[in-house]
Amino acid sequence: MERKTNRARASSKSWDAVANWYLGWAGTEGSRHHRELAIPALMALLAPGRDENILDIGCGAGALAPAILAAQARYTGLDKSRKLIAHARRHHAGHARFLVGDATTLHPVADASFDAAAFLLSIQDIDPLDAALRSAARVLKPGGRLVMLMTHPCFRIPRQSGWGRDEGRALQYRRIDHYLTPLDIPMQEYGGSRAGVTRSYHRPLEVYVSALAASGFVVEAMKEIPAAYFGPPEKEARALRLARQEIPLFLALRARRE
Ligand SMILES: C[S@@+](CC[C@H](N)C(=O)[O-])C[C@H]1O[C@@H](n2cnc3c(N)ncnc32)[C@H](O)[C@@H]1O
Repeated sequence: MERKTNRARASSKSWDAVANWYLGWAGTEGSRHHRELAIPALMALLAPGRDENILDIGCGAGALAPAILAAQARYTGLDKSRKLIAHARRHHAGHARFLVGDATTLHPVADASFDAAAFLLSIQDIDPLDAALRSAARVLKPGGRLVMLMTHPCFRIPRQSGWGRDEGRALQYRRIDHYLTPLDIPMQEYGGSRAGVTRSYHRPLEVYVSALAASGFVVEAMKEIPAAYFGPPEKEARALRLARQEIPLFLALRARRE
């Protein structure tokens, strides 16, 4: 079971307040991190088959839709943000289906109606976790896959981790200030207009695995993904390269509904 944190148990908020900022930052096709790291890693675990029905939970503007459609699978995206869903419908018109809905209930999605589901960089913004996973289990067919890709919960804890430099060893290290206790973390206000604050829910890895098991999932694959460096290779300092290659940015899990 997920441990209690310092908050009420209402479900997490939509990103309506920061939708314009998020669209400006990530664009409709996703940021460079989405396109070159996160989406390929998630797709490798999800392996959608032709004509399979795939549900993208917390889909935002639908950055995952082109990859799912290119695999000749059927795409449905669901998000609580009306603004992001309106944008997704305009951009991916005709090819994909988008629903406004809450990940913690997945109403009005029918029981056992999807072959696979994905959380692309959304599970850490969705709360409560156990309700979201129970709902995902409900809408998946028996044997259905669930893939979640997140910023690595062991190394990338917002406001509670960061880089440090060991001058003696000429190394860059990762400092972790807080890990085992779940946290509800208000993120910085985004955009010049200070449009809104989103929340990120830190949970240790054991909480994800235990919550998956409690919802009837078995974890069957896991991938830890290093960060990319997008500049010219000769400009990347050695210490930064070593740290980047050894301390992962993303974690992806595939689980199967029993
Ligand atoms: C970081 S964005 C990721 C969006 C998209 N998957 C992507 O990678 O571009 C997190 C998304 O989770 C959505 N979200 C947060 N809580 C939610 C909930 N309870 N139900 C559905 N969506 C939710 C937000 O509206 C936001 O679009």
